[in-house]
Parts: sequence; C-alpha cells; structure tokens
Amino acid sequence: MRKYQLLIDGQFVSAAGGQTFESVNPYTGDPVARVARGQKADVDKAVAAARKAFDEGPWPRLSGEERGRILKGIAEKIEAASADLVSLMIEESGSTYRKAKGEVWLSGKNMGYFGKLAGRETTKPIESLSKPGVSQNLIAREPIGVCAQIIPWNFPLQMAIWKLGPALAAGNTVVLKPAEETPAVAMELAKIIAESELPPGVVNVITGYGEEAGAALAEHPDVDKIAFTGSTEIGKKLMGEASHDLKRITLELGGKSANIVFADADLEMAVDGALYAAFFHSGQCCTAGTRLLLHDGIYDRFISRFTEKAKAIRLGNPGDKGTDLGPLVSKKQQERVLSYIEAGKKEGARCVLGGKAPEQPELSQGYFVEPTIFVDVDNTMTIAQEEIFGPVVSVIRFKTDEEAVRLANQSKYGLAGAIWSQDAEKAMRIARKLRAGTVWINEYHLISEKAPFGGYKQSGLGRELGEDALDEYTEIKHIHIDEIADRSKKFWYDSVVAPSPQPA
Ligand code: NAI
Ligand code: MG
Repeated sequence: MRKYQLLIDGQFVSAAGGQTFESVNPYTGDPVARVARGQKADVDKAVAAARKAFDEGPWPRLSGEERGRILKGIAEKIEAASADLVSLMIEESGSTYRKAKGEVWLSGKNMGYFGKLAGRETTKPIESLSKPGVSQNLIAREPIGVCAQIIPWNFPLQMAIWKLGPALAAGNTVVLKPAEETPAVAMELAKIIAESELPPGVVNVITGYGEEAGAALAEHPDVDKIAFTGSTEIGKKLMGEASHDLKRITLELGGKSANIVFADADLEMAVDGALYAAFFHSGQCCTAGTRLLLHDGIYDRFISRFTEKAKAIRLGNPGDKGTDLGPLVSKKQQERVLSYIEAGKKEGARCVLGGKAPEQPELSQGYFVEPTIFVDVDNTMTIAQEEIFGPVVSVIRFKTDEEAVRLANQSKYGLAGAIWSQDAEKAMRIARKLRAGTVWINEYHLISEKAPFGGYKQSGLGRELGEDALDEYTEIKHIHIDEIADRSKKFWYDSVVAPSPQPA
C-alpha cells in the first residue's frame, strides 16, 4: 500500500498528532493508500510556511516569465508521470480509464497554459489623471497572499491544477487541502511539486478531513483568500468563515444544468450528447446535464432512442478500456444517490431505466448505481431541483421556447446548460436567456482552459480558467505619480472643481 506524509515548507512530514487514515478503491473496497490526517497544528505550520514564502521568499517577486517557466516545468513532470497518475486515479477514485487519461492529459495542458499566462503584463498605464501629460497613472495587479485551496474528489488532479495554476502564476502561495477520498492523487502531485523549482513553502499540501483540516484552514486568520470547489452547503459555510476577516473567496459549487433538445435538433447527435451529458463519470460532474428538457414533438421518440442507447452503457472495472461507467466514489455517495432515486419514485416520477445498484455479482463490491432515467418529471420535484451527483437524469417536457427557458432557469443553480438545435439564430437567442455560466450549443462538457468557468446564482462566485482566473488571484492597485516640479498645484480639492463659467 502507498504511504504519504504532508508537504510543509518543502519537506514531507507526518501529522503532528501522528494520526493517519486510508483511502479506498471504490471498485473493490480495498485500501489504496495510508495518508497523514492533518489537523489544526499542521494547518498552522503550513500557513506559516506559506506566509513566510509570500512575505520573505522570492516567489511573488520573480518575474512572471520566471514563474511561468517553473510552472511549465511542473506541467512537463505531470506529463512524464502520467501513466502512474492515470492508474492511481482509477484505483482511488473509480474514474474510468478514458476519463482518467483525459484528466491527466488536460491537467498537464492546463498547467502549461497558466505557465504561459504568468508572463502577461501586470501593470498598465492609463491616461494622465491630473493636467494632461503631468501625472503618470498605473494600474497594477498584485498577488493576494496566502491562498487556502480546498478541492473535491471527482477530478482530483485537474481541480488541483485549476486552483494552483492561476494562484501561482499570479505570485501567491498556497495551502492545498485535497478531498479525503482522493489524497494519494494529490500527494503524487505534491511529490512533483517538491521536485520542481518552486521555492519551499510556496505550495503546501495537507491531507485530512473536511471538518478538521479543511475547517482549520478556512478559518485561519493568516489566510488571505479561500478558493473552494465542492458542495453548495460547504461553500456557504466557507463564505461565512471568510466574512470574519474579509478573506477573498471564489466558489465553484453544485449544478442542475438544463440540457434542452428542440424539435429541430439532429436527433441522433442530441441523444449521444445527452447520454454523455448525464452519465459521463457516472454523473459526478458539477456540469452534468441532469435535467433533460425535451420538446413535446420529439419527446416519445427521443426517450425511446435515449433509453435504448443507455441500456448499452457498459458498467464494469473502471480500469478496463471498454468500461463506460465506473462506480461512485464512495459508499456514502452511492447511498446518497440511491436515496434521491427513492425520492423521485415517491414524488411520482416514472423510472424507465435503472433505479438501483446493479445485481451482477462481479459488480457487487463496487459502489455502482445503474444509469437511471426518470421521465414525466415535474421541474419542482426533488430530483429536478437537487444536485444528485450520480448517473440519474430527469426528463422534463416543454412545448414552447419560452417554456424551455423558464424551466431551465427555474433552479437555484446556474452552472451550465446546453441547447440542441439546427437553427443557429434560435440557439443563440436561447443561449443568451439562460442564467448559467457556460452554455453549449450542440455540444456538452467541453471546457477550454482559455474560457472562464463558473456559476451564476448558487453555483458559485468568481471564475476559474482563462485570464479571469488570474484576475481572481490578484488585488488591484492604482499608482498615481505626480509632477513634483509643478509648485503651483492646489490641494484641498481646489484642483478638482471645474472653474465656474465666466458671465458673458
Ligand atoms: P464537500 O463539499 O463536503 O467536500 C468538498 C471538499 O470540501 C473536500 O475537500 C472536503 O474535505 C472539504 N470540506 C468538507 N467540509 C468542510 C468544512 N466544514 N470546512 C472546510 N472544508 C470542508 O462535498 P462531498 O461531501 O464530497 O460531496 C457531497 C455533495 O457535494 C455531492 O453529492 C455533490 O452534490 C457536491 N459536490 C460537488 C462538487 C462540484 O464539483 N461542484 C464536487 C464534490 C461534491
Ligand atoms: Mg461533505
């Protein structure tokens, strides 16, 4: 079994209390790794190291190009370690081979992107603010300081990179708290970081439980910013924590995205897209297309094709290249998803596929849930309003464009959504009406590192990826340099008042 310690100030160390815990293979139930159970004392040390690296270390003062070069080095090391990262991710999170391979590849690519962005201009001159040509005015973007980054288990490597990449590119220092379900993947990244040219203390990694290590980190007075991806429930809690000392905060939270299929859609493409939207990574994606809105004119035809194709989804060993759908990450998540399915049945939605854990003996050790389709769902039902985070899709009927938009927006969430139509003008018009951070037209789940990603409403606050992500890790400073030779200048606001017009 793999064993890991904490990464604090460039050193791998045991937790101060000496405690450890295990991560579990969701396909077999076997232990994968034994890791340190970080607690408050460890968080204190990690924050102190990050503080020192920020206040006294070279990192925030290096040129952007130099920081970028070091980040690109980390991207290369991720690529070089990809075979091991892929197999560990499969083992520890139940990700299918194809998902894990894609994620590791994208993680290296995303880090490389932030390496490039690190070199962007961080100061820009604006027009002289006093008498034309006299003052010089600069807008500078500066790093915020020590960032607490708390991430989930569904994309254990990519979520770390989306957080570390922009924070480091902008010159911040970090304490990263991975999810308790996937600490080994994070610690393999920590090993890469420890071998990189990053100065000690710039990135510290504390494995541990949310309510222990996570909470201690979020409430630490020396943390300047919290960045979190996970449940809306914990996101709200952290926003409360942040309020005590006005920490900066960005949140990437839950979703209940509407996937809208119009009558003029390419039906086969939309069916395949809707399967991918709902069932990719067993539905454990914040962007999952969990509310499938179908136009009345194609409703029955679509459902019959959709159900037929969903039956062909292969459940199995996530390590097998042909497996489409692996187990959920934990027994707890499996139980949670099954309880939502029960709520759907109780509230009167019709389950036409799945609705339970599979019965095949070879899957019995894993935390599987069958691909589940509910039809005739009312948008007010629990299964249409709550994030389920499993392979469960709720099909809702609509008759007009207006109704589709109204149903799509009738949600506390607003992370993503999609439109399937061959009418480009209509698709664009509807896209502008959806209250969501990402809208795909005839596509799903496609995320580019160049495009800002995040949510409207209770799906979050702020954006990851793109230049916006870097902005979220900076404070903005205006520097006004005035002309010292001008002895005639007036203070006490006399200079800002426009001269009153002379009587004619
Ligand atoms: P969670 O929000 O509890 O956990 C996410 C991260 O937050 C983990 O690192 C955890 O250790 C940490 N955490 C938990 N409690 C904390 C606290 N009090 N203070 C600081 N950090 C804390 O999510 P969980 O329990 O893993 O999953 C529950 C539900 O959350 C899922 O069913 C899903 O609906 C949603 N979720 C959404 C994700 C997304 O990508 N938006 C990712 C993971 C979960
Ligand atoms: Mg939780």
